[in-house]
Amino acid sequence: MNFALTEEQLAVRDAAREFAQTELLTGVIERDEKQQFPAEQIKKMGELGFMGMMVDPKYNGGGMDTVSYVLAMEEISKVDASCSVAMSVNNSLVCWGLEKFGTEEQKQKYLTKLATGEIIGAFCLSEPEAGSDATSQRTTAEDKGDHYLLNGTKNWITNGNSASVYIVIAQTDIEKRHRGINALIVEKGAEGFTVGPKENKLGIRGSDTHSLMFQDVKVPKENRIGEDGFGFSMAMQVLNGGRIGIASQALGIASGALELALNYSKERKSFGKAICEHQGIQFKLSEMATNIEAARMLCLQAATKKDNKEDFVKEAAMAKLFASKVAMETTVEAVQVHGGYGFVKEFHVERLMRDAKITQIYEGTSEIQKIVIAREILK
Ligand code: CAA
Repeated sequence: MNFALTEEQLAVRDAAREFAQTELLTGVIERDEKQQFPAEQIKKMGELGFMGMMVDPKYNGGGMDTVSYVLAMEEISKVDASCSVAMSVNNSLVCWGLEKFGTEEQKQKYLTKLATGEIIGAFCLSEPEAGSDATSQRTTAEDKGDHYLLNGTKNWITNGNSASVYIVIAQTDIEKRHRGINALIVEKGAEGFTVGPKENKLGIRGSDTHSLMFQDVKVPKENRIGEDGFGFSMAMQVLNGGRIGIASQALGIASGALELALNYSKERKSFGKAICEHQGIQFKLSEMATNIEAARMLCLQAATKKDNKEDFVKEAAMAKLFASKVAMETTVEAVQVHGGYGFVKEFHVERLMRDAKITQIYEGTSEIQKIVIAREILK
């Protein structure tokens, strides 16, 4: 692993930082409070190339590497994790999945617009009774010859209302278990497809999380991604990459909290000196900074392996497991450094603490990451 970032990668990081600090910071507290989806901000992120960063330029993407994606995700997540989850799902689950496994027609029709953020996508795997146990799909896609008939409910879908394109995982042949599952592209507005109310969440409150209901939705066969029965394998493969995105989101939430704690500790005085001069605060800051560096190394390692086309399943799971733990611990400590001010909204750290929790849950809980890691190291 080369620890030195290229000029191009540094430029991507700087552009993301500049955008986050100038365009996302304003209004982030209100968007969180009102649970307002950052539509305008995501449109701008699309215009700047952040919504299809790794997509080949021939499909309107940025043609960048995964390391650049990690750097951009960290900077955006420092300020607004509701924006970065939309970015992560669109980049890693939807665009990457379509580019890697879709047909040329699917890429021309959907990927070219998803990569610019003209439209955004959603990835629909979780169900009321199938979260971690993802092979237990109850949503069915009955084979009707030239089309599938889709029936079922999906839960906690990011970009649930704002997406135009949905990749829906559904069971076609129950006898074949996970090898009888398909991944289908469903367009918003399809007859029989309804979006439930927005979830009222602890964190990432701006992000658009909804249940989706499918009742006899006709999906043409040409909207299936990959061969018949490939859907579960596709879901697992995109989630391997998705975990690098969420790990970087967790890293950004943690490093955003540390930046705030550092600044505050230099300004706030107690017992006649800045609180950063008290050893009790220094110990906290040192531990936060060390953990964040370690999380960053894990994220960059997983991204580098992916860019080098090496197996990165274990590294992505380790990055997500560790970075999400660091995000939770760091944000709790950042609130503590801020004292009473940390408990009120104006100082941002309470929001980062609430946002951190989901990184230990979505795209595979921490417990699932441990299963993935154990299977890899016991091979
Ligand atoms: N990469 C590639 N393939 C994988 C894989 C991986 N990491 N993990 C499993 N597979 C394949 C296996 O090889 C197997 O295929 P074959 O039989 O053809 O070889 C198939 O998947 C089934 O695997 P298992 O027999 O191991 O299945 P299992 O039920 O014991 O465990 C699991 C599977 C790993 C627990 C899986 O269900 C899982 O990852 N669950 C978590 C689901 C998840 O991450 N959900 C996130 C929702 S999306 C989201 O959150 C987006 C968002 O909004 C931000």
